[in-house]
Amino acid sequence: MASPADSAASIAARDSAASIAARDSAASIAARDSAALIAARDSAALIAAREDAAMLRAVALAARGLGTTSPNPVVGCVILDESGEIVGEGFHAYAGGPHAEVRALAAAGDRAQGGTAVVTLEPCNHTGRTGPCSQALISAGVVRVVAGVADPNPVAKGGAEALRSAGVDVEMGVRAAEVHAGNIAWLTATRRAAAGDPRPFVIWKFASTMDGRSAALDGTSQWITSPDARADVQELRSTVDAIIVGVGTVLADDPHLTARTGAGALANRQPIRVIVDSAGRTPDDARVRDGAARTWVATAAEVGSGTDNRVDLRKLGAGMFERGCRRVLLEGGPTLAGAFLREGLVDEVVGYLAPKLLGAGPAALATAGIVTIAEAIDLELIDVVRVGPDLRITALPKGR
Ligand SMILES: NC(=O)c1ccc[n+]([C@@H]2O[C@H](COP(=O)([O-])OP(=O)(O)OC[C@H]3O[C@@H](n4cnc5c(N)ncnc54)[C@H](OP(=O)(O)O)[C@@H]3O)[C@@H](O)[C@H]2O)c1
Repeated sequence: MASPADSAASIAARDSAASIAARDSAASIAARDSAALIAARDSAALIAAREDAAMLRAVALAARGLGTTSPNPVVGCVILDESGEIVGEGFHAYAGGPHAEVRALAAAGDRAQGGTAVVTLEPCNHTGRTGPCSQALISAGVVRVVAGVADPNPVAKGGAEALRSAGVDVEMGVRAAEVHAGNIAWLTATRRAAAGDPRPFVIWKFASTMDGRSAALDGTSQWITSPDARADVQELRSTVDAIIVGVGTVLADDPHLTARTGAGALANRQPIRVIVDSAGRTPDDARVRDGAARTWVATAAEVGSGTDNRVDLRKLGAGMFERGCRRVLLEGGPTLAGAFLREGLVDEVVGYLAPKLLGAGPAALATAGIVTIAEAIDLELIDVVRVGPDLRITALPKGR
């Protein structure tokens, strides 16, 4: 028979074994929970990383539509399945064609069910030439939508709200800076139009020597920059809706103002040629009047004029907006560029600088009404690239 002491010892041993077991089990539960938490955290981080990468991919897809979607925006979309794998991609290619979401959903098929749509612009919520994308996403069974920026177009906006009402999880503002940069022209023009100031995003492009001359004194310099830089300009032309020059450039150079491919052939889609010509001096046989592209000789009589009897440039902008232009290239010359800058109508500057010096000859920019340094137009550099032997500098006016 066990003594009371033995029994006490065995009870103590049993209790201690029980408490060790309890402690171990609590530890194992804690360990399991923490492993689960880590796994959940890792998987949330993985999904977030995949959505982030998908948005950058969507921005690249959207860029493929530059030059062909106006008056619509460029939009890219990537569909991820539940595990975050890409199952569909799409971009908006031309106005009237399927929207990016619809193309991406078509590519994903059934795999969109339970998945996430990552799209640069808030999905539209109206029926235009195509149906509302918000509805297409809901019908496809997408459970989450990640968008870069909200749609500022009063007619199309409201997609996020419609999606949320249908129980879809919506996150806005992912990679907003990159998305905004990729669609800056359409977003700017659309916001301005909504505020009662409809006009396209204007890129002023010029070419000059390093000392800022746009031509030699004797006029022997139609081409300041290299063939590489000129090929680059052709690419830029193929991304815009219109090319604008003053009648001075037409009279001096008789340019064709078309977009050409690398092989020199006319590009499939041509920007509208806009000649700003107050008194209608563009010759009947000017090359811009041929059938290679549409041409608008914008006279003061048609557009309206200011006190100097010259074409009213703000009204010209409204006329271009009405013609569907959202992103346009102002190619000169110095007089018209100065007038656009004086009126605050330039949104981006692209300068091609050739490593040459002339010391005399017309400047790339004539007066913009600035007489003192405090009035200088401050620019923020956003890109500097060497193009063949030349430099291409892109800048945005500060404070816009
Ligand atoms: N290096 C470059 O990047 C570049 C680019 C283009 C041209 N260029 C050179 O520039 C030279 C032509 O210079 P430019 O200054 O005479 O050409 P421009 O700026 O293309 O044309 C000026 C003309 O635009 C008309 N215009 C209409 N409305 C206007 C307004 N509101 N404000 C200002 N102008 C208005 C004016 O003629 P009306 O009053 O008759 O309307 C004015 O004389 C050429 O030699 C060409 O080679 C160089």
